[in-house]
Order: sequence, then C-alpha cells, then structure tokens
Amino acid sequence: MSTDQKTQSQQILFTRGVPPAEALPAEDLGECFDSVVRNDTSVVLQYGQQRGYAPLRKQLAEEYGVSDDEVLVGNGSLQLQDLLSKHLVNEEDAVFTEQPSYDRSILTFRRNGARVTGIPLEEDGIDVERLERALEREVPAFLYLVPDFQNPTGATLSLEKRRRVVELAERYGFYILEDIPYRKLRYRGEDLPLLRELDSAGRVITVSSFSKLLSPGMRVGFMIGSKGLIDDLTGLAENTYLAPVLPTQAAVSEYIGRGMLAPNVESLKELYRPRWEAMTSSVKQELPGATMFTSNGGFFVGVMLPEDANTQNLVGRAKEQGLVLTPGESFFADSDDGEPPRGERFVRLPFCAVTTDQIEEGVSRLAGLV
Ligand SMILES: Cc1ncc(COP(=O)(O)O)c(C=O)c1O
Repeated sequence: MSTDQKTQSQQILFTRGVPPAEALPAEDLGECFDSVVRNDTSVVLQYGQQRGYAPLRKQLAEEYGVSDDEVLVGNGSLQLQDLLSKHLVNEEDAVFTEQPSYDRSILTFRRNGARVTGIPLEEDGIDVERLERALEREVPAFLYLVPDFQNPTGATLSLEKRRRVVELAERYGFYILEDIPYRKLRYRGEDLPLLRELDSAGRVITVSSFSKLLSPGMRVGFMIGSKGLIDDLTGLAENTYLAPVLPTQAAVSEYIGRGMLAPNVESLKELYRPRWEAMTSSVKQELPGATMFTSNGGFFVGVMLPEDANTQNLVGRAKEQGLVLTPGESFFADSDDGEPPRGERFVRLPFCAVTTDQIEEGVSRLAGLV
C-alpha cells in the first residue's frame, strides 16, 4: 500500500461535536464522586431534589445572579429543551431558530408539535431584518438562539444584534431560549453580555450544560427562567423522570466547590485552540471559494460551499475517501421565505476531537471532492 493509500484509509471523523478522551478529567471527577457518594449518601443515593441538587443550584444561582428557585438542573440540557418545548409549544405553533441551527434542537421542537422556521444566520448572528419580517407574519412560542460559537457554524451574535433581538422579544411578546454550552470556550476576543443581562422584561430563558466543560456522560444541564416557569418545568420533569441523577450533579457541584472548573476550562482552551487555528487556516487555504463563518471559540467551524461546488452525494463520496461528514441538510429547518433550504451546500467541521494533522488532511480531502 502506498503512503497515499494508507492516509486515505485512515478515517477522519468530521461528525460529532464531542470532547476527545484526553479532555475528560477522570481522576478529579472520580475523587469528587467518591466524596459525595460517601459524605452526602442519604441525598445523592436517594430520590428527591426534583429541581436538581440544591448546592449546585445555589452555585449556579450565584454565578448567574438569580435566586435558587429560578434554576432547574436536569439530565443534560437537551432534555430541558424538550421539557420546555412540551410546556410552551401548542400543536402547530411556530418556533424560530437561526438557519442553520443545532439539528437535535430542531428535531426536539418538531417532535413537540412545532413548525420550525429558520431565519438566516449572518456572520454576526441572526438576520434581524428577516426576523422582524417573520414576526410581522406570526409570533413564535419562542426563538431559539445559540449566541456564542453556535452549533453548527461557530458564529457569535454581535452586541448590537443582541440588543435588537431582546427589544423585539419585548415588543412582540415571545420568549428567547438562549443556549450557551460553548460560551466559556473562547479562544479569541472578549465576552459579550448574555441576552438575559440585556433583558428587563423576563423574556429570556437560559439553558446550558457541563457536557462541553467537563463530560457529556455526566448528563448535567441546567435552565434559568422565572420561578413560575421553573415550577412548571419541575412538575413536568418529575412526571417524566421522577427525580434527576443526583450523584453526577453532586460530583459537578463538588468539582466546582474545589475550584477545579475554571482551571479545567483553561486547559481545554489550551488543548482546543491549536485545533481551532488549524481548522480555520486549513479552510482558508483549501476552500478559498467557500464562505466560512467566523468562529472565535467552541467546537465548530461552518462553511457554505460556493454555488458551483459539486455537492451531489457529498457525504457518500466523502465516506469513500475516509472522511465522515454530517449531511448539511440536517441543520436546516423550513425557510422563512418558502424557498427550499440550501443545506446541501453547508458543511459543519468540528475540530475538538481531531488532531491538527487529521484536520489538515480532512479539509484537503473535502476540497478534493467539491
Ligand atoms: C447547542 C447545543 N445545545 C445543546 C446540546 C446538548 O447538550 P447536553 O449534553 O447538555 O444535552 C448540544 C450538544 O452538542 C449543543 O451543541
């Protein structure tokens, strides 16, 4: 086998946005587990605490400047999105998302009866003019946004647009669900305010997760909203899973309490930054005709291939070259203008769980296909 054939035969996974094995702090988490299971046995090994492990709720309440009863900790953030959709969406209600958006959220909203409409995403976040036009036609149950280092594009919503979107939510009376699992993984630039910090009318619900900062297998996610909303969702949660998984929530709380989270995030950034740099520079070099969303953090870079790119069966042809891609179409909801969505031209490129060599090789294989 020639060297070329060997390289081709090594599969490169540009599919899932998961942390690599070397990013999982097994030793420290193991100690935290051990400690909470031994020291808080009657709470963490028992049914109860339906709103989530009380010390963790308190830590989150302090961090976000809310009261404990405005925090619900559940089994991963996607399940909380599911509960929220069950609660807010009546059959055939609209939910608006960015276009493209996180594929599993689109599916979750649809499964709960929503008609999901995607509003085009620009370099600096959702197209606010298009959003306003869509709002003149109908007001959604909520608008779902991933404002920081969006999945699937990496784009970040600008400060100006954050203000305008919150104003629109207040004016038209809909909720914004801001989903921020990647927010702390910033490789360049300064943090922008959360949408909830710009909101004075209680229109913003925040959801996030420890999946990308610690471990997805822990299944610890949280939601912040008004006490009334959190009460309602807690009732739904209790009817769905009886009680949350307290040992993992308690281990996360212990990990935070020991001051380990911030250093872990710093070491993740050190691990991911060179991969992010490799992905951005490989795309610029190998796919000069494509439009790349500017990503300053998170797990993904997204590209829109040029109009004349060969996108016919791209996923199938890539697989034959040992490159595994997620079909671009899955990140697209229905268009706001009735036109067919152009998902076949979109490629999501996750960079955290691949080495810089794999990134360069993978992007070059992709360039050879389009
Ligand atoms: C934007 C976004 N929201 C939510 C999730 C789900 O996270 P969790 O593991 O907390 O359910 C993901 C996972 O990739 C994600 O990218």
